[in-house]
Amino acid sequence: RPYHEQHRPQFHFSPKENWMNDPNGLVYENGTYHLFFQQNPTAPVAGNIHWGHATSRDLVHWQQQPTAIAPDSLGLIFSGSAVLDAQNTSGLGQPGRPALVALYTSHSEKKEKLGRQDVENQSLAYSLDYGQTWTKYAQNPVLKNQGSRDFRDPKVSWYAPGKKWLMALSAHDHIEFYSSKNLRAWTKESDFGRTLGAHGGVWECPDLIQVKDAQGQPHDVLIVNMNPGGPNGGSATQYFVGAFDGKSFRATQPGTRWLDYGPDNYAGVTWANLPAGSPTTLIGWMSNWEYCQQAPTSPWRSAMTVPRTLALRGAPGQLQLASQPIAGLGKLFENPVTLTNVAVSGSYDLGKSLKDTTGRYQLKFTVPQAQTWALVLSNAAKEQVIIGYDAAKKAYYLDRSKSGNVTFAPAEKGFAKVARAPRTATGPTQEITLLVDAASAELFADGGLTCLTGTFFPSRPLTGLALQASGLTVPKVELASVRSIWD
Ligand code: FRU
Repeated sequence: RPYHEQHRPQFHFSPKENWMNDPNGLVYENGTYHLFFQQNPTAPVAGNIHWGHATSRDLVHWQQQPTAIAPDSLGLIFSGSAVLDAQNTSGLGQPGRPALVALYTSHSEKKEKLGRQDVENQSLAYSLDYGQTWTKYAQNPVLKNQGSRDFRDPKVSWYAPGKKWLMALSAHDHIEFYSSKNLRAWTKESDFGRTLGAHGGVWECPDLIQVKDAQGQPHDVLIVNMNPGGPNGGSATQYFVGAFDGKSFRATQPGTRWLDYGPDNYAGVTWANLPAGSPTTLIGWMSNWEYCQQAPTSPWRSAMTVPRTLALRGAPGQLQLASQPIAGLGKLFENPVTLTNVAVSGSYDLGKSLKDTTGRYQLKFTVPQAQTWALVLSNAAKEQVIIGYDAAKKAYYLDRSKSGNVTFAPAEKGFAKVARAPRTATGPTQEITLLVDAASAELFADGGLTCLTGTFFPSRPLTGLALQASGLTVPKVELASVRSIWD
């Protein structure tokens, strides 16, 4: 049955078949959330890249749509963004039919073969039928390569104070900002980041966003994806908290910060044009360039993370992004169970409290900040995924070394390595939320200040669930099963 094959995520978006990577063109319009994505419609590996398309009315249930944008003489259709041009600044709309405008990277394999530098240029396509069909702008590209071999992933947003569009673009080891009055002609504004943050890989898929702190005060945050060089190897997402003045972005906090320490959350960017009052909402590609193309799934490859809302938490000067699963996911929860004063000495079987054997659930609990614990997700084949906190190392971790098929990619790709994430929160209790699907776990610790997302491929569902600790009483454990979005 489609969407029920082995390892098929049941509450995460995955394409019906073939290859997917980055989320693209995230935009809301007229009751519909659009999720475009890097798609190879003809094979389950990267290459022949188009923009695939899926839509949702709630960010929870998704319907795949016909492929949206196909390669042309300028090249493959690499990552980019989409906006609603409500004021028809581009002149591409028609009366009563505002244009959805997509900016993406044309990646020329022809030029690549010739060894040229100007392989990547930015192009435009627009839709007058709510994103169903796309017309390429006749004068593409709209922004020509400025000399960098890596020059891609335009993320466009409206900058209200300057009444102009802004584009954040990745250029190998830094981000470039451009502006435009009409989405067609772009002017360079500034560069950011050559000597800031992590530089263990190529900077990709930037996003300049506004995120509110606990007082409701908005701050500018620049998301910068990077591959490889992530904190646990391969692809990962860093961010900078700072200020954008209409021309350039200045980081106001030192150090490198990671949105998610897990191996499988990459190329995350946010939705444009969300309904008023919506929190900033991001979705990532739940894989890693180290091993994504060998993942043992068929007939599709890759899934997205759950959509996550972003907030800033912490003292001034030490603000950090906190990610949480979108509230709407709650509609999938069923058979909720609350256990109180759970005494754990050694191992406590939580799995018996799950009313079904799907191996899909949300788990929430709190423990004192210095407490070491481990959750062991297991099956009868003795495969297991361990998620826990190591007080000596002050770190959360994800151990999938015995999670089933761990040899689909060569060992040096690191799939079987333990991933660690420092606990950055300082509160007296660890607040744990864990989302488990057929082939993934997403840990949101301490209100999402520390996230760890990882995939796994067991031979049968991981329906066993044990909490291990010594001499611990957990005041409250909440468990709920998660319904499939494909039924
Ligand atoms: C990130 C990325 C982007 C590029 C796309 C190609 O995963 O490498 O930089 O546009 O994937 O599919």
